[in-house]
Amino acid sequence: METQMYGTKEEQENAIRYYDKLSVLYDYISNWYYKKARNYAIKELQLKNGQTVLNVPCGTGVNFKYFNEYLNNTGLIIGIDLSSGMLDKVKQKIEKNGWTNVKIELNNATKIDQNWLDYRDEQIIIDSVFCDLGLSGLPEWRNIIDNMISILKPNGRIVILDWYLEKPSLKGDFGKWIGKGEVDRPIYQYLETKVSNFKVDDSFNYGGVFVASGSKPE
Ligand SMILES: C[S@@+](CC[C@H](N)C(=O)[O-])C[C@H]1O[C@@H](n2cnc3c(N)ncnc32)[C@H](O)[C@@H]1O
Repeated sequence: METQMYGTKEEQENAIRYYDKLSVLYDYISNWYYKKARNYAIKELQLKNGQTVLNVPCGTGVNFKYFNEYLNNTGLIIGIDLSSGMLDKVKQKIEKNGWTNVKIELNNATKIDQNWLDYRDEQIIIDSVFCDLGLSGLPEWRNIIDNMISILKPNGRIVILDWYLEKPSLKGDFGKWIGKGEVDRPIYQYLETKVSNFKVDDSFNYGGVFVASGSKPE
């Protein structure tokens, strides 16, 4: 039975306060603990020069240097997060690396939908979306997956990196503590019903962490 938590306004606010405070430490933890899964996931985005990748939630922007290895600093990286502390870390990275192809936005992942895309100042085509370690902690996670697919170009890529453990365990407790989310949501199982070319590898971190990917059906 899927756990329903982190759905209320108060739970969300608590999670954001936690990330605001943890932003410095989180940057290192997220890069180190999930490195193998992250490298694999980013490869699955199939990024090419000049493309646009949307990262929700982007946290401290730990992925951005890896995106740019594929984009060669071309195209556009859009990062969305609700924690200003996490986004401050991204700003430092943008400045340090001199990236000119990164845009960040303080926004709620639940608000990123077709309207958000249609009413932006500039017209953009989303080639790929990366949701890493977000859906396990976000409310309305199925809607978020639906919205992410809806704003992708036809055949665009969606890649999700997250936790899935069917039964309670110590490892699951660690995942819940570090990520302030749940570990038993059937995220990749839901994705499978929505995309073509679905693929999942759930062997990362000795099991518990998965990378799932697929393409928007044409
Ligand atoms: C576990 S971290 C993952 C960050 C990043 N993707 C990574 O892997 O390092 C979860 C992130 O979700 C953000 N977050 C939580 N609720 C959110 C919401 N409703 N909308 C956007 N971001 C949210 C937090 O601020 C935090 O940065």
